[in-house]
Amino acid sequence: MLVREGLVEVEVPDVPETKGPGKKMPGFYNGSQKINRDISVAFLNTVKPNLSLDAFGGTGIRGIRFREEAGVPTVISETNPASAEIIRKNIERNGNRTTLIQADCESVMRDFLFGFIDVDPYGSALPYIDSALRNVRNGGYVGITATDLSALTGSAEKATARRYRARVGVDSLKHEKGVRLLIRAVIEHGAAFDIAPVPLISFWHSHFYRVIFQVNHGATRCDELLSNIDAVDVGGNVEGPLWTGKIESEAILSTLKVPDQIAEDRNTSELLAYLKSEDTSIFFTDLNEAARKIGMDPPRISTVIDRLREKGFTAVRTHFFPTGIKCSPKCPDQEIENAIRGN
Ligand SMILES: C[S@@+](CC[C@H](N)C(=O)[O-])C[C@H]1O[C@@H](n2cnc3c(N)ncnc32)[C@H](O)[C@@H]1O
Repeated sequence: MLVREGLVEVEVPDVPETKGPGKKMPGFYNGSQKINRDISVAFLNTVKPNLSLDAFGGTGIRGIRFREEAGVPTVISETNPASAEIIRKNIERNGNRTTLIQADCESVMRDFLFGFIDVDPYGSALPYIDSALRNVRNGGYVGITATDLSALTGSAEKATARRYRARVGVDSLKHEKGVRLLIRAVIEHGAAFDIAPVPLISFWHSHFYRVIFQVNHGATRCDELLSNIDAVDVGGNVEGPLWTGKIESEAILSTLKVPDQIAEDRNTSELLAYLKSEDTSIFFTDLNEAARKIGMDPPRISTVIDRLREKGFTAVRTHFFPTGIKCSPKCPDQEIENAIRGN
């Protein structure tokens, strides 16, 4: 079947779409990753790297979009011969000058000096993080998609401990903790080589996390990043260790050059609007839970946010949870309670 996304059209095999990474068919296409590709295209359109690598081709849609919509010279790598054939046809269909290399992405990463490497494997990204960080150019960018959410959210406790050497509880904060755990892992992998990956854009959507990093070399930079990795107190429990620093770059998000065909997609635009404003603090308060604790029905979230702002707090919604409120400086429970009661 033909799929149109952004400015490109690709042929994908007629298999039912799945939410997760389960279907490992040639030419794997997942519509719920459009938002991931949209934001990656907008990012590349803004930072304009010399050369980008779509390391895990699938149908080639990502790399073809990088070339077509961000104007960035792009290589696509793909190991599966049937997928490579689908990618070759899709490049041709779009009259696109993307280069396909049928090979393991780690060898392709070593053969060129990329300014951006996109890591989007099935499941955990951990096996590819070192190669991407070590081979991207100094000052370049690495985008990492992770779909091993059961490990990152702590719902598969043993996998969380084994892969990420962490302990996290499953609650309303689980996706923010999961993103922060992924960032911690990437920073620690980089630090082993004196490479410092700084998160610029981070989000959760559906079954995946996505973080785009800028990668600079330097031991001092690594030490600065590592000083922001710590255990955190979550409702009296010690969890983590997690990345506790900023997860978004205001400088990037406020100057993001979003092409019209991407801005038209409400899901993508709404998510970008959240990301621009929400990185005011680590974690948030769930309005419903706070109201339940004091035996009240929750008022509208916008009402509570307005009341907190009137008291001088910077209160915002977060994409991590529909009834989550981020507040800076951190609101004492009493202030949230007052805002719920209208005091
Ligand atoms: C999750 S899909 C990629 C989806 C694609 N990036 C997109 O946005 O639609 C993963 C793809 O990577 C390919 N792959 C797996 N291991 C690889 C490797 N080491 N090097 C290159 N490609 C690989 C698989 O055959 C599969 O087509």
